[in-house]
Amino acid sequence: MNILILGGGGREHALAWAIRKHPACGRLFCAPGNGGIAAQAECLAIDPCAAADVVAQVRALAIDLVVIGPEAPLAAGVSDALAGAGVAVFGPSRAAARLETSKSFAKAVCDAAGAPTAAWARFDALEPARAHLAGRQPPFVIKADGLAAGKGVVVAAQRDEAEAALRDMLGGAFGTAGAAVVIEDFLPGEEASLFVLADGTDAVVLGSAQDHKRAFDGDRGPNTGGMGAYAPAPVMTAEVESRAMAEIVRPVLAEMVRRGTPYRGVLYAGLMIADGAPRLVEFNARLGDPEAQVLALQAGAGLFDAILAVTGGRLGDFRPDWSPRPALGVVMAARGYPGRYATGEPIGGLQAAASVPGVTIFHAGTRIEAGRIVSAGGRVLTVCATADTLAEARDRAYAAVDRIDWPGGFCRRDIGWRALGS
Ligand code: AMP
Ligand code: GLY
Repeated sequence: MNILILGGGGREHALAWAIRKHPACGRLFCAPGNGGIAAQAECLAIDPCAAADVVAQVRALAIDLVVIGPEAPLAAGVSDALAGAGVAVFGPSRAAARLETSKSFAKAVCDAAGAPTAAWARFDALEPARAHLAGRQPPFVIKADGLAAGKGVVVAAQRDEAEAALRDMLGGAFGTAGAAVVIEDFLPGEEASLFVLADGTDAVVLGSAQDHKRAFDGDRGPNTGGMGAYAPAPVMTAEVESRAMAEIVRPVLAEMVRRGTPYRGVLYAGLMIADGAPRLVEFNARLGDPEAQVLALQAGAGLFDAILAVTGGRLGDFRPDWSPRPALGVVMAARGYPGRYATGEPIGGLQAAASVPGVTIFHAGTRIEAGRIVSAGGRVLTVCATADTLAEARDRAYAAVDRIDWPGGFCRRDIGWRALGS
């Protein structure tokens, strides 16, 4: 079977690594890919959001299945275009992906489904939004309604900070993504992510993970796409997981069917858990990055069996058969990320790092220049390890990080602290 992965980050490298291990994998392509993905797949220089170009490549290269990694092609309707052309695709339709691309849509679906989430209100003008804020107590949670590359959420302790966020968003700082805002109540608790496979009717848990969104140790500094992750998340006990499925995920999937837009793909439920009760923070219509990297390390080729169960409509019979062996990933980013950073810096020591037992290195922002790997993005590598215990996985991952020779890079040194206590 010939397969095309859309995207070019660490998540897509993890997908390529897992799919390449599967006996059903024939030719493997990735668009656009990156310097690390080139070891597993043939990289295609096409825009993954250009639906017509993707369909043309699929025909030209006799591709049987397309796996969509990031949200942008989903929002651009690439899944719909492929399905319309009769091509098997893993990734929800544009209408179903609204669970991620519109925060107010996701909240409205939760309300219709009776799924617990923070109380909310949507505004498209500043004065009514400010008036609403005046009646609330801090902390304030302000969100751009549309896709804002993970930067559209402000949790403000002070009223003036919240008002500034409203002014920025409604004033166009995020373009059309901020044409409307959602103001919601602050949810206390511990955050964790649940990844669920869905084929419209059936739903099966793929795994759980915890991310680290702030740039610096101690959860300080600006929000990022994610600086490290580990799986499983200890806070996601069997009881919390079954409550999340029964109270949030299944009712929401049923509501999507009722609306005539069944959800097919992987649904990422970001949950806040307090006293054993999960509440929804947000949905994403895809695997997380860097969460996919640790899930792939746990599942190996089994991750592709899971994808095939969804695209083949066989999810009802599918149960993950991999062990939930702990895995942990540390993101190495270019100094300055998530702000301005340099690119084109050579990265050495990758082979020595990968030789640490249990370690796999996924590339996010790299390219090959004159035969060498150089940095080409903000998040550049995810250094992952698996072991019998999470503590050992962490030690292995950091031993590998310490072998990487890249003076222009940085990482958090405390990935896993919630589970490991240090
Ligand atoms: P989101 O993009 O919606 O996941 O928001 C980004 C981050 O902001 C989340 O991962 C949470 O840490 C935080 N956050 C979002 N909404 C809330 C909320 N209602 N209460 C507390 N924290 C929140
Ligand atoms: N790591 C968070 C995300 O992928 O949205």
